[in-house]
Order: sequence, then C-alpha cells, then structure tokens
Amino acid sequence: MKTTPYHHNLLSDQERLAGFFEAIKEKSKGIVYDLGAGSGILSSQAASQAEHVFAVEKNPKTAQIAIHNLSNFDNVSVLVKDATKIIFPEKADLIICEMLDTGLIDEELIPVLQNARQYLKDHGEIIPCGIFNGLEPIHMETEHLCYQEGLKNNFKTMGPLKIYNSLNLKREFNEKVDVALKLPITDHGTVNGILITTFTLLTSNIICGPTPMLNPPLMVPTNPLKVSKGDKINLDLNYIMGGGLNTVKATIS
Ligand SMILES: C[S@@+](CC[C@H](N)C(=O)[O-])C[C@H]1O[C@@H](n2cnc3c(N)ncnc32)[C@H](O)[C@@H]1O
Repeated sequence: MKTTPYHHNLLSDQERLAGFFEAIKEKSKGIVYDLGAGSGILSSQAASQAEHVFAVEKNPKTAQIAIHNLSNFDNVSVLVKDATKIIFPEKADLIICEMLDTGLIDEELIPVLQNARQYLKDHGEIIPCGIFNGLEPIHMETEHLCYQEGLKNNFKTMGPLKIYNSLNLKREFNEKVDVALKLPITDHGTVNGILITTFTLLTSNIICGPTPMLNPPLMVPTNPLKVSKGDKINLDLNYIMGGGLNTVKATIS
C-alpha cells in the first residue's frame, strides 16, 4: 500500500486499525461513505461487503494515493472533495469517518457529520457512533497545551476522571462545548491544568480508548491554584468542536 509519512503512522497503529476493522466487518453493507479516506485503508475493508463505497478525501495528493491503493476495487469511487460541503446523489447505509482527535477539537469530524448526516438513510449507521470526553485535574510540568504522545508520564493526577460530555453522532448538536464542573481533589499541591481523554464508541459494543494515533490524551493549561486533599475546585471549560486548539479555554477557581 502507498502512503504519506502521516498515513504510514496511522497504518502502523494496529490497535486503531483492529477496532475499525471489526466495526466495519459488523456494519458494512449497501452504500458506504468513507469520509476522510486518507490512504483508503478503511474503504478497502468496507468494499468486500458493500455494494459501493464512496471514498472522500480533501487533500489532492492523498487522494491520488487512495486512487492508486483502491484501483483493484471496481465498487469504490474516490472523490477529491471537502466532506463538509459535498453533495451526494444517494443516501448511505453506513458512514465511516475517522477524523478523530481528542475532544473532537482540532479535526473536522463534527462539521463533516453536520453536512453528511442528511445523506444517511433512516436506519443507516455511523462509525464511530458515539464519543465520551472525560477530564481530570492535573499538575503539569509544561505551560502549553500538548498531547501525551507516547503516553509519557510528565504530569501528576490531582483528582478522578469525570466524563463531561457524551455525544450520539447520529443526532445534531451544538458545536460549542461550554461546561462548568466541580472537581474533587485527591492530593495536596498545585493544579495548573486538565487532562482530556476521549473514548470512542465505534459501534454499540466496540469502544476504543486512546492509542498512539487515535486521540492521545490532551493536556490543557489552566491558571495555577494551590489545593489540599478533600477540596473541590470549579472548572470552566469551553471550546468549539472542529474549531481548532486555539478555541480552548480552561479556568479554575
Ligand atoms: C485521521 S486521517 C484518517 C485516514 C484514514 N481514514 C485512516 O483511517 O487511515 C483523516 C483524513 O481526513 C482528511 N480530511 C480532513 N478534512 C477533510 C475534509 N473536510 N474532507 C475530506 N477529507 C478530509 C485528511 O486529509 C486525512 O487524510
């Protein structure tokens, strides 16, 4: 299979692929859209069970790679289009959209589905079908927002994980996340950040936690606050899903 260096890393993440392959095997049939097709790997899995797969990729160079990789399938069409604006001639039985990132902040899954959902049959399905976002208060050593790539342990957990939003991707919802939470503190020290972790529901019975290339936990700095074990702190968190990391604001008191 031809790839770019980025798509090569995606293909090297066996845990990510295993989850998607299992979900696709369970759900692929009829008309399938693979939105953000990249190298075409998920389209190639869907094609063996589907009547027709529309693989949509915005980046022209990446789309050329998908065209090459999918050339042996006569039931796959690669469309070089922006999936936030695309118009489809027929409705799909299944939408696959691996445009995932932690908290759904930086990638376009949400704006893409806001457009594509209108082209899903009434009993059609979406992979992933749901998202749970959780956070915990932390003491972090860096001062800027960063991903826990390689899951290095350069922070200290200061309280338990709390799920702050759960999304059913078949339904429409507001792209703005604006939550006010009370967080229990379980240690003495300084809280100066939160760690966001995303859990992806691929189908109703396949859930994926973070893997090296799928939603590595995200550390977001806050103002610093001295705390003691047993305290409760207030957190205000807001961002726009699909709006980019510079929309994230987190403050504690
Ligand atoms: C995380 S990669 C997933 C690639 C592939 N589906 C896989 O699982 O290996 C997301 C892909 O979506 C593409 N993409 C991002 N925004 C898009 C948009 N608005 N419309 C179509 N493709 C988009 C990117 O160029 C990238 O190739």
